[in-house]
Amino acid sequence: MPATAYVNGRYLPLAGARLPVEDRGTQFADAVYEVVAMFGGRPLDWEAHCWRLRRGLAALFIEGAPSDAALGRIAQTLWRRSRLADGLLYIQVSRGTARRDHGFPEGVRPNLVMTARPFDFRKRLAQQQGGVAVVSLPDQRWKRCDLKTTGLLGAVLAKAEARRLGAFEAMFHLEDGTVTEGASTNMWLVTPSGTLVTHPLSAKILPGVMRDTVLRLAREAQFAVAERPFTLDEARAAPELFLTSTTGPLLPVTRLDDAPVGTGKPGPAATRLATLLWAEIARQTGWTP
Ligand code: PDD
Repeated sequence: MPATAYVNGRYLPLAGARLPVEDRGTQFADAVYEVVAMFGGRPLDWEAHCWRLRRGLAALFIEGAPSDAALGRIAQTLWRRSRLADGLLYIQVSRGTARRDHGFPEGVRPNLVMTARPFDFRKRLAQQQGGVAVVSLPDQRWKRCDLKTTGLLGAVLAKAEARRLGAFEAMFHLEDGTVTEGASTNMWLVTPSGTLVTHPLSAKILPGVMRDTVLRLAREAQFAVAERPFTLDEARAAPELFLTSTTGPLLPVTRLDDAPVGTGKPGPAATRLATLLWAEIARQTGWTP
């Protein structure tokens, strides 16, 4: 069976991959992670994912994780051994294994896990053409949403509620109606005059890699862009909404709660940006649908 997991130096089938029960990630969500899109064995935006992982490790004071170069070598070896082409590479670094105690343990080494999973990005093209539904839900997460930690219960519960309601994603809002992001995506709207709006970087959202890529592509294509908060009311009145994420990568939102967004069909801005994004994916990885 091909190796689809890596655990602290060993490549092995996912079913046999294990971490100790007292891994700090398991007991405290004392861990950061990344999800990287692999197209034909090539990672998309690898440096940006490494940068975010490094930032998270520093914020959690986790020391001793392998260098970016070492992570890259492990990822490449894992992908080769997994014999996958397109898929998702998952990377998780926890503080390590130690007797349960809230305080930082002394002298532990981080636990490093990677998994390789197939993912059909072509399926996303159909969703891109049809658009997806989202439901607004209160943002009940902690106050450091900029850190990609494995403490994902707020997102997990919201995603479950969204699916129960037949939606693809939750659109999180604060008590004052400000939209922050999705449970596992960044949220965007297009104003009636065509400006792209997405929440500014802060502790309230994850600095999405795809958010950053789309911002760059949009600016290069002369879109007007505003990184500012927007409200649920503004979202309900917007001609277009869309979401971005590694697994998206860009999906038009055609339904918000009980109402269609704009015409109820993917709009021109989202459609154009998605085209630019697939071209960027092809440029970086050589992948075409
Ligand atoms: N989720 N916001 C949140 C809360 C996320 O969890 C994610 C990613 C994003 C988009 O970030 P990026 O563009 O870097 O994928 C925004 C990943 C895919 C996950 O947890 O599976």
